Amino acid sequence: MKFNQKNLLTIADISKSEILAILDLTATFRQVLDRPIPVVPALRGKTIVNLFFEPSTRTATSFAIAARRLSADCVNFAAMTSAVTKGETLLDTAKNIEAMKVAGVVIRSSHPGAAHFLAQRLMAFIVNAGDGAHEHPTQALSDVFTIKERIKKMDGLKLLILGDITHSRVARSDISAFTKLGAGVAICGPPTLIPPGIEKIGCEVFYKLDHILSEVDVVQVLRIQLERQQKGLFPSIREYRALYGLTKERLTKLKKPLTIMHPGPVNWGVEMDHEVSVSPHSVILEQVKNGVALRMAILYLLAGGEYPKSSSTEPS
Ligand code: CP
Repeated sequence: MKFNQKNLLTIADISKSEILAILDLTATFRQVLDRPIPVVPALRGKTIVNLFFEPSTRTATSFAIAARRLSADCVNFAAMTSAVTKGETLLDTAKNIEAMKVAGVVIRSSHPGAAHFLAQRLMAFIVNAGDGAHEHPTQALSDVFTIKERIKKMDGLKLLILGDITHSRVARSDISAFTKLGAGVAICGPPTLIPPGIEKIGCEVFYKLDHILSEVDVVQVLRIQLERQQKGLFPSIREYRALYGLTKERLTKLKKPLTIMHPGPVNWGVEMDHEVSVSPHSVILEQVKNGVALRMAILYLLAGGEYPKSSSTEPS
């Protein structure tokens, strides 16, 4: 069966059974990546363009590697050396790239809705690789894949998302993806970094860390966006670390193991201690590794590939 979507813009567009089928396909591509020659010919002759208007290490690189592992050609568009610097618009840029016969465009933008805007105007498929503080669906799908591989049971799992929720596209996509698979999601951070009304999208809100940390199975720690600190959203880094940092001392007090995620990049010693990342319960680099296989699955499905035979999907 084929994927029921032309684009991947938001987790809201995909059903639970579609997510499960994507995860099955991701597991297949994980096996491909472990082969001595980790390449399949699935997208031979197709071209994918990485259209990144914001910096990225993990997402841009993993989409480029994923495209190459599928035998597609991948072009990384460098906004800072393009005609964007001369005032070319997003739509003109994208239309010109599409005219070069590309199959798909992976876009990251600081503007919420940028991927939707292109999806309504281009024939090529569009993948949202992060649009402002709105969504980052492939990060969330990599996160659910990582936790499903590690913990197996998603139904009833308790996830805590910790830190700067207001500015986080990962938080919104994670809440949506994990709750669709039956997990309970809590969020915790300073009141200034939690948007009012966020509980309406399916999470519980906490402002004190220690009690809720002892109640959950998994914590996704978010980057404190230090560039926003000048706005006085919390008193100091020192106080933030004391109240909300995932420190070694906090972890040693817990009675049961806690699986630790971080979508990166990490401010070591601020939202998380470096010692925490090397714990056997940290899956931070697995999130990155699985991101390649997950992005292979997404590019393959959007280019017209089919789910594995074992997957059962139902309409969204
Ligand atoms: N997780 C994530 O989006 O990282 P990058 O900004 O490096 O792509």
